[in-house]
Amino acid sequence: MQKRTLGNSGLDVSAIGLGCMGLSFGYGPATEKQQAITLIRTAYERGVTFFDSAEAYGPYKNEELLGEALAPFRDKVVIATKFGFDFNAEGGQSGLNSRPQHIRNVAEAALKRLNTDVIDLFYQHRVDPAVPIEDVAGTVKDLIAEGKVKHFGLSEAGSQTIRRAHAVQPVTALQSEYSLWWREPEDDILPVLEELGIGFVPFSPLGKGFLTGAINAQTTFDASDYRNTVPRFSTEARSANQALVDLLGTIAADKTVTPAQIALAWLLAQKPWIVPIPGTTKLNRLEENIGAATVILSADDRAAIEDAVSAVTIQGARYSAEHQARINR
Ligand SMILES: NC(=O)c1ccc[n+]([C@@H]2O[C@H](COP(=O)([O-])OP(=O)(O)OC[C@H]3O[C@@H](n4cnc5c(N)ncnc54)[C@H](OP(=O)(O)O)[C@@H]3O)[C@@H](O)[C@H]2O)c1
Repeated sequence: MQKRTLGNSGLDVSAIGLGCMGLSFGYGPATEKQQAITLIRTAYERGVTFFDSAEAYGPYKNEELLGEALAPFRDKVVIATKFGFDFNAEGGQSGLNSRPQHIRNVAEAALKRLNTDVIDLFYQHRVDPAVPIEDVAGTVKDLIAEGKVKHFGLSEAGSQTIRRAHAVQPVTALQSEYSLWWREPEDDILPVLEELGIGFVPFSPLGKGFLTGAINAQTTFDASDYRNTVPRFSTEARSANQALVDLLGTIAADKTVTPAQIALAWLLAQKPWIVPIPGTTKLNRLEENIGAATVILSADDRAAIEDAVSAVTIQGARYSAEHQARINR
């Protein structure tokens, strides 16, 4: 697969990465371990060198999974993980925590779980209003100086926070939601990233599965699936938003590609420093998503996609009120 570079400090990764969250967390029961390892190793064999995890995915289990799956070719891949939460005894998130000592503790624990001596990209998962971002950036700067971390990232941070963090320790990548049905980063965030030379890693690039056409108003999710709490996944919102998926499906059929490939190719076409990280638990979908790296969108294709997006007013917030309060800080 072709490579892309994140940030001015030059982190080279495959143009499409693998979001590993859903293998352990968020979208129903975890995938059986050997199956998950096979999926991750197949991704590597097919050219994926960028793997996304977080302490929170499980918690802890997803990092352990990556540590085992990626061990045979650890030095050939880039592992990204994230800090920034406290957890209760049941493993639920019990609040934000980006205090410097906590970041250091998470780094040490993540290194063990990932079975590695360096974290390639260490993101703050959510901005913690109780800790000045300069202190967070300074702590990661120290971890970089100690050789425990290579690159610093932020997730769902607002533009002023990005600027303040970058002034202390250059930010290599921002990871925030961006897709054909969530384009807010175009207003304020993408121009700041371009100005500062920071790469962008869109999460949920397939709209948590909705943009692929595999989900409709009749789909039911496992009781533990996070999408049950997302207003945009209410039955009414899915009915209303189906029109966008139908239009994208027509564009995809005309090009003999799939809607998922249109969604990913569109992101790749936005900027050369954008690297989406679609998540899947299925080998056939992994192949399909990787295939998007070779889909070229013409100016006419892009105009047709813009028409489709502007023809449909998307219904439903992308976060519950609780999650909404933690973003764009
Ligand atoms: N920084 C953050 O706060 C944050 C938040 C969310 C996610 N993330 C990261 O971003 C990654 C990707 O985001 P995401 O998993 O939320 O959403 P996504 O990649 O937009 O969509 C994943 C969903 O789409 C389905 N899917 C994947 N490929 C498909 C295809 N070709 N056809 C049909 N369905 C397909 C998957 O189901 P199957 O497994 O059944 O294929 C899964 O339910 C995560 O794994 C995680 O690493 C970060």
